[in-house]
Amino acid sequence: MKNHFNIAIVGLGNIGSEVLRYLNKNKKNIERTTNSTFSINYLSARNLKKKRGSSISKKLWIKNPVDLVKKKNVDVIIELVGGAEGIAKKLVFGALKNKKHIITANKSLIFKYGNQLAQIAEKNSVNLLFEASVGGGIPIIKSIKESLVGNKIFHIYGILNGTTNFILTEIEKTKKSFKEILNKAQKLGYAEPDPKFDLNGDDVKSKISILSSLCFKTAILNKPFLTEGIENIDLEDINYAKRFDYKIKLLGISEIVNNQVKIRVHPCLIHKNSDLAKVNSVNNAIMVEGSPIGKIVYQGLGAGKGPTTSSVISDLNSILRNNLSNPFGFSYKSARKLKLFDFRKHTCKYYLRLSVEDKPGVLSKITSILSKSGISIQNFLQKPVNKMYSSLVIITHLAVEKRIQFALKMISKQKFVKEKIVMIRIRDDKKL
Ligand SMILES: NC(=O)c1ccc[n+]([C@@H]2O[C@H](COP(=O)([O-])OP(=O)(O)OC[C@H]3O[C@@H](n4cnc5c(N)ncnc54)[C@H](OP(=O)(O)O)[C@@H]3O)[C@@H](O)[C@H]2O)c1
Repeated sequence: MKNHFNIAIVGLGNIGSEVLRYLNKNKKNIERTTNSTFSINYLSARNLKKKRGSSISKKLWIKNPVDLVKKKNVDVIIELVGGAEGIAKKLVFGALKNKKHIITANKSLIFKYGNQLAQIAEKNSVNLLFEASVGGGIPIIKSIKESLVGNKIFHIYGILNGTTNFILTEIEKTKKSFKEILNKAQKLGYAEPDPKFDLNGDDVKSKISILSSLCFKTAILNKPFLTEGIENIDLEDINYAKRFDYKIKLLGISEIVNNQVKIRVHPCLIHKNSDLAKVNSVNNAIMVEGSPIGKIVYQGLGAGKGPTTSSVISDLNSILRNNLSNPFGFSYKSARKLKLFDFRKHTCKYYLRLSVEDKPGVLSKITSILSKSGISIQNFLQKPVNKMYSSLVIITHLAVEKRIQFALKMISKQKFVKEKIVMIRIRDDKKL
């Protein structure tokens, strides 16, 4: 059993510099609780001269972090650079191959290469820990791997992206447009200068894939699945949703249906009184359903230097306590091979908003296409926008995804349709 650990931190940006500050300040406490000692032997980032809050000793600086993978006086590498390729990939693969423990907050890397990395870590009996990659400070990964180990989990879902939740909450609160609120989010540091991966759902896709693999004991799925973001949603939709007692949230959802994995990312109309509807601003919330536990709810800040550092430190504690676990909580050799659910068979109610010419025959054409596609209307609302155009809002009864997609394709072809049709899936469950 080891009782001294040599640490290197690579990446000293938002998260890395806070982790360094925390470790310097709390060294004695951590050593006392883990019964091990540690030293920070190397630090690395792109630019040595950059001001980072805490002082960086030149003696610890290493220019090429990939050299760390062969250093004898390194046992643990904390990778806080980010990105699925480049330096992060080289460093993490190299470190695991050279039997060094890895702690990372990098969801892109785990999503893309988690299967390969897990096999190397398992073969070399080292830890690959990534608590900070999902849900910021919410201790969801260790909870699934350890605390819920006796459960059969069949459903995991939630709000996994703080940026988009902030945008949706603020549009509702301030009645300002998507564009105005996105600007505000960027000024407050809640959205990246290029927010594409938050807005288009890709960030949630990585996170729900990681969670799905942990919960259902499968490899990370490498097949594409339904991923939609919030780029097409605006104040109008949020207001209409409210009139029908709904709120709009971007959800990541994965569940077992008929022994298949039904996984997807899309905005959703959920009942205004549901638990998830009350999760606002940059908060994340994750719901897990399993047996015998029932449903549990995790909620907290999904990003930011404090919460993310908390998760990195939790991973480090595990290593200092000499705990060794398989990266996803099960041996890769025993991973379940489950098929992906064919999402065209999905059934739910749908919200449709159409911008159409205000003239006779339009409504009957739309209802006729819907009816021929086997879709019936539960609620309907029409609002003139000006003398020429109207907004039509339709809430359907339960319908099959394949049929809705077909109907939307047919309706979109009509000349009276003036803008891209907004379609949002509905989950009516008040317990959500
Ligand atoms: N920010 C959050 O709230 C949050 C939450 C959860 C997870 N994460 C994850 O945490 C990781 C770090 O995020 P962050 O927000 O701290 O990013 P960041 O502020 O952009 O920091 C990235 C760091 O990596 C360094 N770096 C970039 N390229 C490098 C290279 N080629 N060689 C050496 N160092 C290099 C940068 O160096 P310079 O400083 O010299 O430019 C910087 O210190 C990412 O995987 C992110 O997804 C972040």
